[in-house]
Amino acid sequence: MDKIVVAGGRPLNGEIQTSGAKNAALPILVATLLAPGEHRITNLPNLVDISSTLSLLGRIGCPSLFQAESTRVDTTRIAFSEAPYDVVRKMRASVLVLGPLLARHGACKVSLPGGCAIGVRPIDQHLKGLEALGARFELSGGYINGRADGLRGAEINLDMPTVTGTENILMAATLAEGTSVIHNAAREPEIVDLANFLISLGARIEGAGTSTLTIHGVPRLSPASRPYRVLPDRIEAGTYLCAAAIAGGNVTVTRCEPSTLTAVIDKLREAGCEITVDDDRVTCARTGELRPFHVDTQPHPGFPTDMQAQLMAVACIANGTSTFRENIFENRYMHAAELLRMGARIDVQGRVATVRGVPSLTGASVMASDLRASAALVLSGLAAQGVTQVLRIYHLDRGYEDMTARLRGVGASIARLADDADEQAVQASLRETR
Ligand code: EPU
Repeated sequence: MDKIVVAGGRPLNGEIQTSGAKNAALPILVATLLAPGEHRITNLPNLVDISSTLSLLGRIGCPSLFQAESTRVDTTRIAFSEAPYDVVRKMRASVLVLGPLLARHGACKVSLPGGCAIGVRPIDQHLKGLEALGARFELSGGYINGRADGLRGAEINLDMPTVTGTENILMAATLAEGTSVIHNAAREPEIVDLANFLISLGARIEGAGTSTLTIHGVPRLSPASRPYRVLPDRIEAGTYLCAAAIAGGNVTVTRCEPSTLTAVIDKLREAGCEITVDDDRVTCARTGELRPFHVDTQPHPGFPTDMQAQLMAVACIANGTSTFRENIFENRYMHAAELLRMGARIDVQGRVATVRGVPSLTGASVMASDLRASAALVLSGLAAQGVTQVLRIYHLDRGYEDMTARLRGVGASIARLADDADEQAVQASLRETR
């Protein structure tokens, strides 16, 4: 296992390029199962979650060749229809194979994901929607066994706008007989990207990006003649804008999609950062002190839960008291306890966290609990006095392509080392970055 070490206190200056969106790439890769043949997808991020998805597709019988500029996936044949526990427990998004496998293959066996560091995260809405389309499920030995003898269009009312739930039902409905309508659908940009990909395969979908999705089923889908380019990652881009906010300086995030970053940009402006938007580039400059702000996580287009931890890191050094309300996941404040170890003043009461800004944080050894919490701890290290060591950073590899190199590229003193590297090795690696 590796750790990241950061010597704080250096402002950041320069450009960071955005990768393709993890949470769009995952359903898009899985959606290739709906259309037999060879698919080409570009702008896939080089992440552990992507290699896990490609290996899951491989286990289903669909080989692939990963290349950032054009990945190939061959879904001509489905040999197995199972997502086993050892895959699903590492990556919950594996449950996305349910919809495509039922629609194309009529059967699937998927391990129930169980809870995770940020909450219980049930999949009842996925199952409810697929059942409405005609699938039948039974639970045995921790697995969901699904069957379908041809899916039929239906009206589905989701209890909450679940992102992967909407994606699962959307994918299945593309091959159902007749029309399906998903009410209270998620509106995230990643849903729009998946819908665009499905449309490139021949699907008929209306309303992507709104809370009502209408899908007119078609008998078959086929691979698109041109490679499909995955949307830029708004959470990765937002995280690097926060890096500039917390460390100070001037960072431009390039090759991003500013329209997907509005909620984060608004919050950073409220915090006193100067944000400029130019085509596919967003710059965050911060010279003065940070002002306190209020974050209320909501489904898109509200403030994304995936940026809550990073903004909390920023709030830790703002001049005043900021408040956070986490409405999406019931347990997404694991980073707060670690930030306390760095001198932050945070009080968590259920879904509400109150952050009283301090003049500066102090470097400490901290433990990453999930992907976005890991990012928040690295950001805090950029602003802390002394050296911060972020342990268990394997979470980061799931969602950030080479974060260490990117932050170094804009002037951070940061390195990645083996978990057991001693003090001398830490100091030597940080000296190299000065
Ligand atoms: N929920 C249910 N029942 C369901 C589905 C969801 O009760 O059947 C609840 C969840 O427990 C949660 C809320 O509904 O409280 C919203 O969860 P949602 O289903 O929207 O989350 P998800 O689809 O599992 C995706 C992203 C997450 C992101 C959330 C919210 C992917 C692969 N994952 O998860 O991304 O936080 O939407 O925007 O798209 C991350 O990238 O770090 C990450 C966790």
